[in-house]
Amino acid sequence: MEYFNNIIETIGNTPLVRLNNVMETDALVLAKVETFNPGHSIKDRMALKMIEDAEKDGRLKRGSTIIEGTSGNTGMGLALVAIQKGYKCVFVLADKQSKEKMDILRAVGAEVVVCPTNVEPEDPRSYYSVSKRLAEETPNSWFVNQYDNPSNAIAHYESTGPEIWEQTDGKVTHLVVGVGTGGTISGTAKYLKEKNPNIKIWGIDTYGSAFKKYHETGEFDEKEIYPYITEGIGEDIIPSNVDFGIIDHFEKITDKDGAIMARRLSYEEGIMVGYSAGSAVVGVNQLKDKLTKDDIVVVIFHDHGTRYVGKLFNDSWMKQHGFL
Ligand SMILES: Cc1ncc(COP(=O)(O)O)c(C=O)c1O
Repeated sequence: MEYFNNIIETIGNTPLVRLNNVMETDALVLAKVETFNPGHSIKDRMALKMIEDAEKDGRLKRGSTIIEGTSGNTGMGLALVAIQKGYKCVFVLADKQSKEKMDILRAVGAEVVVCPTNVEPEDPRSYYSVSKRLAEETPNSWFVNQYDNPSNAIAHYESTGPEIWEQTDGKVTHLVVGVGTGGTISGTAKYLKEKNPNIKIWGIDTYGSAFKKYHETGEFDEKEIYPYITEGIGEDIIPSNVDFGIIDHFEKITDKDGAIMARRLSYEEGIMVGYSAGSAVVGVNQLKDKLTKDDIVVVIFHDHGTRYVGKLFNDSWMKQHGFL
């Protein structure tokens, strides 16, 4: 018989799938389709690693409550692992996150607290501040802090990086990743660059985020920061999980271009994925002049399109934002 002992054993080993219809380059572009994880996103990998590391050094104890500010996917991963291991979960989300993400977290038993998006990170109402405060007020709780928790990037160093190296037979030339906490790009890139320092690492950023300018000038410019619609990538803080030294280039993508490409991936490739996957593919097309037909580009598709049925895949929502 061949079976897994529980659902968390199915995390990882996701497929690489060639993109055939939406690319504007002759390079071989392969999507690492992370929707095959049990929580339908790449975040299952780091959720498991963060919990196991916290158990090992005693930050997480029997009966603990896990508290985290999350755009939804990390919460889903944490919740699945917490169910297997018997922890409670409280997740704090910004109100720009899709209703589907909030409902999905409730569906796996988590308590969800919603905060306003358009406030400064230091504001006591922000989702950063509220999650910290709840962790201080709740006895026997553990504040995960995916932005600064080193286990986040280590999870990708230990799993995502080696998988891509083996699946491409060591031939990958470019890695393209939407950047939020920075865990995915930093951990995966560290592994790949150790194997071959010539692999190019391209981070995908949004207009309204501080990353690209910070990478290019070292300046944290508050003028770069304003509200945007894209979900999962870009930040108004500099998380310690972003290893800026390992990233060769940041490319900014508009909300509109990312949204339209996410729909095209569904309609033209049959791969129904989320906003940041659309943005990452647009990034490769915007940078096509830097690619040759011999290049092998791996693009991370972080999460599933079902998280966005009320938004990206809803014509009224698309029209309301001027995207259709
Ligand atoms: C949909 C989506 N894409 C991309 C990212 C960015 O990944 P990372 O936080 O590892 O940088 C996230 C993170 O929350 C996400 O939820």
